[in-house]
Amino acid sequence: MVMAPIPTAKSENGTAAAATVAPGAVAGAHPIAVKAENVNVFYGEKQALFDVSVDIPDRTVTAFIGPSGCGKSTFLRCINRMNDTIEGARVEGRITLDGNDIHDPSLDVVELRARVGMVFQKPNPFPKSIYENVSYGPRIHGLARNKAELDQIVESSLRKGALWEEVKDRLHEPGTGLSGGQQQRLCIARAIAVSPEVILMDEPCSALDPIATAKIEELIDELRQNYAIIIVTHSMQQAARVSQLTSFFHLGKLVESGTTDHIFTNPVDQRTQDYITGRFG
Ligand SMILES: Nc1ncnc2c1ncn2[C@@H]1O[C@H](COP(=O)(O)OP(=O)(O)OP(=O)(O)O)[C@@H](O)[C@H]1O
Ligand SMILES: [Mg+2]
Repeated sequence: MVMAPIPTAKSENGTAAAATVAPGAVAGAHPIAVKAENVNVFYGEKQALFDVSVDIPDRTVTAFIGPSGCGKSTFLRCINRMNDTIEGARVEGRITLDGNDIHDPSLDVVELRARVGMVFQKPNPFPKSIYENVSYGPRIHGLARNKAELDQIVESSLRKGALWEEVKDRLHEPGTGLSGGQQQRLCIARAIAVSPEVILMDEPCSALDPIATAKIEELIDELRQNYAIIIVTHSMQQAARVSQLTSFFHLGKLVESGTTDHIFTNPVDQRTQDYITGRFG
């Protein structure tokens, strides 16, 4: 297996960080799950992303930070080809998942979106029961041969989503009847149910109170054992708490990527420094 080198902080123009990152700063070195090379995105005439290249390792939480409108959500949507669904959006560049080009014409986009799950800012359970929210994906992807297997997937996904104990006696009640934090864990369980490799989370806690946020952060830390996770957040504290790697975006460019420790303590680029110290954004 090809192991990814431990990433060191690198600025947009390729200047290596002055200080080296201690090996082991990122727990173990993991293979690259998603590799993006020179990604440009346009909405009509307007360019939203410029030449974004980044490696996202498996079993690691990568935080995307940067001011509003800098292209974080746009880049997340590239990874599971959600921009395909936006009229007038055009994506250039190469993105691979486990080494396979996600724009390959032979690739099934529905399958890609199962392999690359997504969790949004506002919890969005289907207007159906808790059970059906989780079982829908495995059913349409044919992951269970019978009801017993489907039940098993629902239970294990809800357990992995840290929600099972709270809902096991009300599986057939509407998912929309849960609290906001529970709904978000339901959405995470729903993403997990189709056995993804990557989970994209776009500000998953911004609609939640501090207690629900703490639960989701704890859950993200557990999920890191099995998935590559990207989390977009406007909270520097959250990025520092949950991620091992951080990428800073500014005006459609990926300015700097590195270990979270390094980005927060010794960034290479002045724009990163200004953002993390609250000078703009
Ligand atoms: N569907 C769309 N149509 C046209 N322009 C869009 C669309 N979605 C995003 N944009 C533009 O692309 C740029 C990047 O937007 P994006 O939503 O990716 O930023 P973001 O970093 O996620 O911001 P925020 O932190 O506010 O969520 C912005 O200028 C935005 O106006
Ligand atoms: Mg966004």
